[in-house]
Amino acid sequence: MRLCYNRIERGKKVSYFITFEGADGCGKTTQLNNISKMLTDMNIENVTTREPGATPLGVELRKILLHYEGPVADECETFLYLADRAQHVQNFIKPSLKEGKIVLCDRYTDSTVAYQGYGRGVSVEKLNYLNDIATNSFKPDLTIVFDVDSETAQTRVGKEKDRLESEGIEFYKKIRFGYLKMAENEPDRIKVVDASKSIDEVFEQTKAIILGFLNK
Ligand SMILES: Nc1ncnc2c1ncn2[C@@H]1O[C@H](COP(=O)(O)OP(=O)(O)OP(=O)(O)O)[C@@H](O)[C@H]1O
Ligand SMILES: [Mg+2]
Repeated sequence: MRLCYNRIERGKKVSYFITFEGADGCGKTTQLNNISKMLTDMNIENVTTREPGATPLGVELRKILLHYEGPVADECETFLYLADRAQHVQNFIKPSLKEGKIVLCDRYTDSTVAYQGYGRGVSVEKLNYLNDIATNSFKPDLTIVFDVDSETAQTRVGKEKDRLESEGIEFYKKIRFGYLKMAENEPDRIKVVDASKSIDEVFEQTKAIILGFLNK
């Protein structure tokens, strides 16, 4: 069953938590911005945010996560992401929803399961439990996974790669597999978009999912 923070009705204040997921370079940020603009044009209040690094404390954690040059233990990486998320949920996501905004979030709990779980090999079961603690069991109403083969995604990532983007193609294949597995396990919440298509075509697919969801 879908857990809705605040059900939308036409003509009333709206408030949903929608997450954008997928491996680096799949086109999440591009489509998140397109959807934000579409909602704004429809006079639907919305706010965009991202993980890691949407809160002042999160900005500090993001610097470590993406640019720290020493060795980082897999579990340490996991807890840094979870710490960022806990702060984000309490200090940004929930307050924004209370203000009646749709929150469009670039990465959330599924990223941890995909990257640290399927990618790095940390237990998925344990990660689900830790995600639950970090978020106080706060789940997205809708999640869109942008699915594209790992080679294509890599060509879309710029030359300046961060710590995670510098991982090899095998890592990204595991992440892609993880996302598809999660979508299979939670078909009501997680919708998969074919992100191998052009930006316009991917937008059409994303728009259809979001409008279908809002009009339900
Ligand atoms: N469908 C597409 N076809 C071709 N290029 C695309 C497509 N979608 C996005 N791009 C381009 O690929 C690059 C990466 O896109 P974007 O930043 O949206 O990906 P992302 O999933 O947010 O990546 P990251 O996880 O690294 O933040 C950008 O230059 C963007 O213009
Ligand atoms: Mg991005």
